[in-house]
Amino acid sequence: MAGRLDGKVALITGGARGMGAEEVRLFASEGAGVLATDVLDQEGEALAAELGDAVRYLHADVTSEDDWSKAVAAAVEEFGHLDVLINNAGIVKLSPIATCSLDDYMSVINVNQVGVFLGIKSVIPAMASKRSGSIVNISSVEGLAASPWVVSYVASKFAVRGMTKCAALELGGLGIRVNSIHPGGIRTDMIKPGGIDVTGVFEKVPLGRVGEPGEVAGLALWLASDESAYCTGSEFVIDGGLMAGISVSTDDLSP
Ligand SMILES: NC(=O)c1ccc[n+]([C@@H]2O[C@H](COP(=O)([O-])OP(=O)(O)OC[C@H]3O[C@@H](n4cnc5c(N)ncnc54)[C@H](O)[C@@H]3O)[C@@H](O)[C@H]2O)c1
Repeated sequence: MAGRLDGKVALITGGARGMGAEEVRLFASEGAGVLATDVLDQEGEALAAELGDAVRYLHADVTSEDDWSKAVAAAVEEFGHLDVLINNAGIVKLSPIATCSLDDYMSVINVNQVGVFLGIKSVIPAMASKRSGSIVNISSVEGLAASPWVVSYVASKFAVRGMTKCAALELGGLGIRVNSIHPGGIRTDMIKPGGIDVTGVFEKVPLGRVGEPGEVAGLALWLASDESAYCTGSEFVIDGGLMAGISVSTDDLSP
């Protein structure tokens, strides 16, 4: 049976675990060659070994321009070309603004925001040479609305949303599409920032549960594939209804 990504090559950052690892699995199962990058080498190598020839793992820190050059070169050398970039790597740190150190603030901005900027910039030549490509930036519902104690995360995810639109304007003429995904609470290690499990907060959404990493991977697959050929510069929310409105129980409305 034909795969939805047959003949395509994808680079997925933060591909060693969580949503990134689910995207690596799903994209490979749909026919793509996948270069997974991360800083968690043991997990990344194990995933690549499990999935066989369609998947390679490379250590690459998204904050390093040099690592980005190596990653793009490795994808092209291993699989012949590059069609898809999933800018998925991310971190979160909890702190009130009043006590957030500049170092902590910048560490989140560097991974979540600078990493995405470097990723978009680095893949342009390879994608432009084919006059085709899809870049998917993983933002968050916190790129659409704020939460307390995550100022650096919120700032970085709003920036990713803005960068996505800027890149879509600049790269559309080269045949490169750029979209952002905005997940709500998804069951990965990130749902326990600083050891505090916030699963319960996200279970209060209209659908009454957190999302699974495979559900976000399914949306990323659609945006990576030609099925979304007319979409660029857009925001795709996957949040169980979190952003649909103010969370008021009908019990509170009883006369
Ligand atoms: N889990 C959620 O509830 C949620 C919600 C909205 C958005 N997101 C976003 O989804 C993306 C994936 O997160 P996740 O939930 O799978 O969490 P995760 O912590 O399981 O995965 C993040 C991955 O990024 C990697 N990474 C961190 N710093 C890196 C760096 N400098 N270079 C390369 N890789 C690096 C980590 O090693 C890890 O493998 C992130 O961008 C996150 O902000 C997550």
